[in-house]
Amino acid sequence: MRVLITGISGFLGRHLAPKLLAEGHEVFGIRLDEGEALEGVVERQVDILNVPDLNLVVADFSPEVVVHLAGLSHVGRSWDQMPQYFAVNVLGVENVLAAATGAKVIFASSSEVYGSVPPEQQPILESRRPAPRNPYGLTKAASERLILAAGGIVVRTFNLIGPGQETIFSLPSFAAQLAGQRGQTGRTGADSAVIKVGNLEAKRDFVHVSDGADAYAILVEHGEPGGIYNLGGGRPASIREALDRLIEITGQTVSIEIDSERLRPIDIPLLWADASKLKGLGWRPRLGLTRALEDLWQAASAPSSEARNSA
Ligand code: GDD
Repeated sequence: MRVLITGISGFLGRHLAPKLLAEGHEVFGIRLDEGEALEGVVERQVDILNVPDLNLVVADFSPEVVVHLAGLSHVGRSWDQMPQYFAVNVLGVENVLAAATGAKVIFASSSEVYGSVPPEQQPILESRRPAPRNPYGLTKAASERLILAAGGIVVRTFNLIGPGQETIFSLPSFAAQLAGQRGQTGRTGADSAVIKVGNLEAKRDFVHVSDGADAYAILVEHGEPGGIYNLGGGRPASIREALDRLIEITGQTVSIEIDSERLRPIDIPLLWADASKLKGLGWRPRLGLTRALEDLWQAASAPSSEARNSA
């Protein structure tokens, strides 16, 4: 099939495109930033808010399937950048739907649409009514309505993790901070690396980004129009637990400092998916949190990593 990925240069796009190519699809991509296209993929730089350009590029690719990943994705920043979040995440979706008329559209939504769900009502089923608690979640809940009204497919994606995620997110930030101080503790006389963190008590349902990409690839072929699918791993872990495992992987001695700038006005305590529906299509998370943290650490500590000082 001819598959167009919006936001192809992002975390998930970079993992999904090679999988689709390997399965024999033709892959096209649009991206906001400049950069080199992946081998075997035709990529164009276009802003999804620029309707004439978007229409031209999409018409040129004439995709049968559009996987819409482009969007603003940081929960914490969405309070300060509300207009941008609504523009990109809601109007942007409308623009993509209009440009891609006739194509099957698969939309990357978020677990954040569920809001605060009592622990005894988790894992969460897709039938639960969305009740977002932050601007980011609101934009995703609004854009889901547009997608479903057009017969598209909604993927309520829980926490993808692994190599290539921006350091504005929790675990890539911790990994980058640790990588930046690796081997320095002895030289500077410090006993341990110091890392800044926000709320470590929240629990999230982590999925290795490679498994996440598998799920999207399955939905390209088998996703049911108008369907909603939870994409989650099956067992939630607190950010503290994930951080402890990461520290263990690095072998460093670490002191942890709470940075108030990293705390959010509201932080959902637990988001845990019931992903039975997706599993019913044959999807299984294969790699798990520890492997995701190992892969994240390997990428963050590689000599060429650019992320280190920006965490
Ligand atoms: N970003 C960040 N930085 N978060 C921190 C930090 C820190 O230093 N310290 C603790 N946290 C906490 C956050 O408060 C939150 O409870 C948790 O770690 C996870 O934060 P993020 O890694 O930023 O991810 P997220 O859960 O807010 O959002 C991610 O998952 C969603 C799906 O569940 C993003 O990928 C979203 O785009 C995605 O929709």
